[in-house]
Amino acid sequence: ERPKHYNEIFEIHNELLIRSKQDLFANTGRHALEYMLKRGFDRQILDEFDIGYFPQNFDISFLRKKYSKNSLAATGLFYEYSGRLNFKFAGRLSFPIKDTMGNVIAFSGRALKDDVKPKYINSPTTDIFEKRKFLYNMDGARSEMKKEKTGIVVEGYIDVMRCSQAGIKNTVSPMGTSFTKEQAALLKRYCDDVILVFDGDFAGKKAAYRSLETFIDINFFPQVVFLPEEDDPDSLIKEKGVSAFLEKLESRKDLFVTYINNLSKYADSYQKKLKIIERIKSLLIKVKNPYLKDEYFAQTAKIFDLNEETLRKDIEFSSHKNT
Ligand code: CTP
Ligand code: MN
Ligand code: MN
Ligand code: MN
Ligand code: MN
Repeated sequence: ERPKHYNEIFEIHNELLIRSKQDLFANTGRHALEYMLKRGFDRQILDEFDIGYFPQNFDISFLRKKYSKNSLAATGLFYEYSGRLNFKFAGRLSFPIKDTMGNVIAFSGRALKDDVKPKYINSPTTDIFEKRKFLYNMDGARSEMKKEKTGIVVEGYIDVMRCSQAGIKNTVSPMGTSFTKEQAALLKRYCDDVILVFDGDFAGKKAAYRSLETFIDINFFPQVVFLPEEDDPDSLIKEKGVSAFLEKLESRKDLFVTYINNLSKYADSYQKKLKIIERIKSLLIKVKNPYLKDEYFAQTAKIFDLNEETLRKDIEFSSHKNT
């Protein structure tokens, strides 16, 4: 049963998309357009991603004339202030978020100055949008994903756009959330392989490792690329060119093996080593493919200097205990 305002919620998003694109290329949006041009995006890519601008004193009377207050409220795009509806994204660059078919279901608004907090404002959960169920640019990336059988996952909107402008079209973003099982399942429908290219900072590394179990749970084994500490895909491509990024992609490694290697750095006492092995065991138990499982056994034994047979028996014992 669809909510009463279902179609109107879609319509309102569409009207806002059209209006925001007009404003980006009109006088009102000149500084916003300049911001994106200065960052090295061309008009074609701005158009392709339906980037727009919402003016500071955005007048929503054109919507109030056509839609009920209830419908407008159901979009999650407004807040009420002394009895009036105000638009949440005023003064911001608009990044429309779409479902896999290309329907606009939410917005993200980026501040035009770096000292404005928060940098991005996103639509809240509504009747048509739940962040955890969608990937930014899934509509644009899916045909290339099917062709390449590979999907690339980056952290942000700008990273997706930069990759796309550089000709790498099979790129999506979880929009700042930690990767969810719904997003992993969505990717799995379109590709056999996935490459995670998160920001090079600590948060990016943590996000990659945290996604591992989510992927293993649906029998999907991502590869990972770590960028230099200060880079994200956008800055790397902008400063060093797409060839530097493609080179990085070439150096991708299996995420699980990378994770095992990373954990081994913390195994500086016997107690810690045993604890870490318990953690790895809890993941190994979930691996269904017997050949992959063999590979991960061998790697774990090698990296932690364990007897492979002992590890194998231990895990077989644990999995029987758990089922
Ligand atoms: N994000 C968000 N809200 C914030 C900050 C980030 O939703 N306040 C999400 C956005 O989807 C953003 C992604 O997390 O694209 C990555 O964040 P970050 O690396 O900080 O931004 P960038 O994508 O690098 O954007 P920019 O290059 O414009 O700073
Ligand atoms: Mn494969
Ligand atoms: Mn980041
Ligand atoms: Mn970033
Ligand atoms: Mn960035």
